Amino acid sequence: MGLADVLATVPDGSPQASLAHQVDYARLPSHVAVIMDGNGRWAAQRRLPRVEGHRAGIDSVRDVVEVSARLGIDVLTLYAFSVENWKRPPAEVSVLMGLLKRYLRLELDTLMENDIRFRVIGSEDGLSPDVRFELAAAERRTGANGGMRFNIALNYGGRAEIVAAARRAIAAGIDPQALDERQFGELLYTGGQPDPDLLIRTSGEMRVSNFLLWQIAYAEIWVTDTLWPDFRSRHFLEAVVAYQKRERRYGGIKEEAVGAGR
Ligand code: FPP
Repeated sequence: MGLADVLATVPDGSPQASLAHQVDYARLPSHVAVIMDGNGRWAAQRRLPRVEGHRAGIDSVRDVVEVSARLGIDVLTLYAFSVENWKRPPAEVSVLMGLLKRYLRLELDTLMENDIRFRVIGSEDGLSPDVRFELAAAERRTGANGGMRFNIALNYGGRAEIVAAARRAIAAGIDPQALDERQFGELLYTGGQPDPDLLIRTSGEMRVSNFLLWQIAYAEIWVTDTLWPDFRSRHFLEAVVAYQKRERRYGGIKEEAVGAGR
């Protein structure tokens, strides 16, 4: 994992190669979360049905998973389907579920070869048995892998996740006075994983769309106008380089300012 691994898959002298050289591999974001948006617009620009945008978006998923693993990112979370997405036409929902199943079936060997541990985060309620079966099979098969953790958020809603965690705390009889932020975080789907340091959103929208609401409290947000089906490793590397130029304060002040008493 690192520069050599990224360079192994990108053409010499390409923008990706130049960006890969700009990354500081000692300061990578531990967890990168991505709101994949713009599939419909991508299709509309080409006078294609919306679902063709989702289909094309699979290539972007492959590229981003590969570059993240090669960089040495610990956790990658992709927002594939929100609890609100059930409002879409049934035919579109069915294509999305079908694409997910197909992706998992086709990519499982690659995930294994790259030591990637797959997990789905979200509610199982409402998912059809065949989708659940495919998800469980992929989780089981990759469960012992020790490399990058790859979460797909499916039937996911940030508020619903927080409510579910509160219910879990109550059901477990946890003393409300003793419950702190660390312990509460462990009750979320992402328990045991670091919070996202970097949140990427494609297609220019400035919204968080009910995604990882608790976990993104201090995430740096990077928005690109690029539509998801056009998003590739180059854009991901751009986001990481931009992230590394930011100054993260977590509500505090600059360290030099502390020393200077300012
Ligand atoms: C948003 O575009 C995208 C989605 C709701 C689905 C994303 C799903 C995939 C890329 C395919 C399956 C995913 C995996 C991980 C295998 P939109 O339809 O809201 O676009 P628009 O805002 O332009 O209409």
